[in-house]
Amino acid sequence: MEFFNWYIIWLMILFSLLSPSPSFMQASNGYDPLSLTNFLHDYANASLRNLHTGTLYNISLPANFSGMEASFVRILSAKFWSRGANFSSFYIPPKVIPMPSGRRLAIVFENLGNWSSLYYKVSNYTLVAPVVGFMAYDSPSGTVIGNQKLTFTADGDPITIRFPHIDAAQGENMTRKCVQFGDWGTFEITNMTSENECITRGIGHFSIVVASPPTPAPAPGKKKRNRKWFVVGIVFGLAFLGLVMIVTFKLLTRRKLKSMEKQSEKDVAFDTFWVGRSKMPSASMTRTQPYLEHEYVP
Ligand SMILES: *[C@@H]1O[C@H](CO)[C@@H](O)[C@H](O)[C@H]1NC(C)=O
Ligand SMILES: *[C@@H]1O[C@H](CO)[C@@H](O)[C@H](O)[C@H]1NC(C)=O
Ligand SMILES: *[C@@H]1O[C@H](CO)[C@@H](O)[C@H](O)[C@H]1NC(C)=O
Ligand SMILES: *[C@@H]1O[C@H](CO)[C@@H](O)[C@H](O)[C@H]1NC(C)=O
Ligand SMILES: *[C@@H]1O[C@H](CO)[C@@H](O)[C@H](O)[C@H]1NC(C)=O
Ligand SMILES: *[C@@H]1O[C@H](CO)[C@@H](O)[C@H](O)[C@H]1NC(C)=O
Ligand SMILES: *[C@@H]1O[C@H](CO)[C@@H](O)[C@H](O)[C@H]1NC(C)=O
Ligand SMILES: *[C@@H]1O[C@H](CO)[C@@H](O)[C@H](O)[C@H]1NC(C)=O
Repeated sequence: MEFFNWYIIWLMILFSLLSPSPSFMQASNGYDPLSLTNFLHDYANASLRNLHTGTLYNISLPANFSGMEASFVRILSAKFWSRGANFSSFYIPPKVIPMPSGRRLAIVFENLGNWSSLYYKVSNYTLVAPVVGFMAYDSPSGTVIGNQKLTFTADGDPITIRFPHIDAAQGENMTRKCVQFGDWGTFEITNMTSENECITRGIGHFSIVVASPPTPAPAPGKKKRNRKWFVVGIVFGLAFLGLVMIVTFKLLTRRKLKSMEKQSEKDVAFDTFWVGRSKMPSASMTRTQPYLEHEYVP
């Protein structure tokens, strides 16, 4: 029985090793853009005080984010609509409408610097500029930044993104393209509008990419599949081996029990009982039941 329990535990360990799919492992590498955005939101709210509207503030990030930059501005909605905003890497023209509307809005700008390719990946493309982004929130009086995320409706001129730094060496003669990242790892690739500019009509995260040099694609795919089948083979092999061992074990115990039974039939001529350390023969307790004569009523 104990053996059987161990076997079950073994199987569970093996299957838990096998089960996580590659996509799951990729998602849990610890660099989740959404949680970064939420972190910056909370950090801006916690670290900034006594703000002037219309002034851009650098957010000094914790040391373990070194290489990343973030800044914050709080703007009156009326001014935002009439004059637009020109901060960080973004030029937002007039007549962009934040939704839902309020008296003020707060914008958090990000530049992921050397962290860009950890948080954002574009299959078949290589990032050649840091990922920059901006998120807009409500800004109720009393707090620095609200919890309500805003969206922008730009019917007129689009928002312009100027990239502070483009890696010229990488993909030297290749066509650069703009990439806009959506939620859940989605992205959209468009043409650049000028030397180092992209345009957008909404909030989000942006970068520049070039097509990756074609990799010998089938080789890693095949290798991966082979390895997977190898693991599957090992697991089923072990499972089968375990089964065989269980059956053998059971057969052996049954045979042993039978021989023990036979042996005890031979050994125990008398019933025995123990007195201290010695085994004593004893007569059976049950004898022929005496019966009383007068009970017999003819
Ligand atoms: C904010 O940070 C950027 C980049 O580190 C720097 O160039 C700029 O001078 C800083 N601005 C202020 C007001 O500290
Ligand atoms: C930096 O440390 C904070 C906790 O102090 C943690 O929440 C955050 O995830 C860390 N950042 C990175 C990039 O590891
Ligand atoms: C980015 O660069 C800074 C130094 O500028 C370094 O401390 C940090 O570890 C780097 N981050 C990553 C993810 O490479
Ligand atoms: C926005 O500001 C940058 C400098 O920070 C300047 O070069 C650019 O001309 C400004 N754009 C507009 C449309 O005012
Ligand atoms: C990347 O390229 C490979 C082969 O060239 C193709 O099969 C795959 O669909 C591409 N992926 C995307 C997201 O375009
Ligand atoms: C911002 O911080 C204040 C206190 O520092 C807190 O009361 C408030 O709930 C925070 N707001 C958000 C949206 O996290
Ligand atoms: C890019 O093009 C130039 C000439 O247009 C050439 O000299 C150079 O070798 C090319 N670089 C690459 C990496 O192909
Ligand atoms: C993007 O640029 C290519 C040439 O560089 C052109 O053929 C294509 O039509 C452009 N796409 C759009 C949507 O403008």
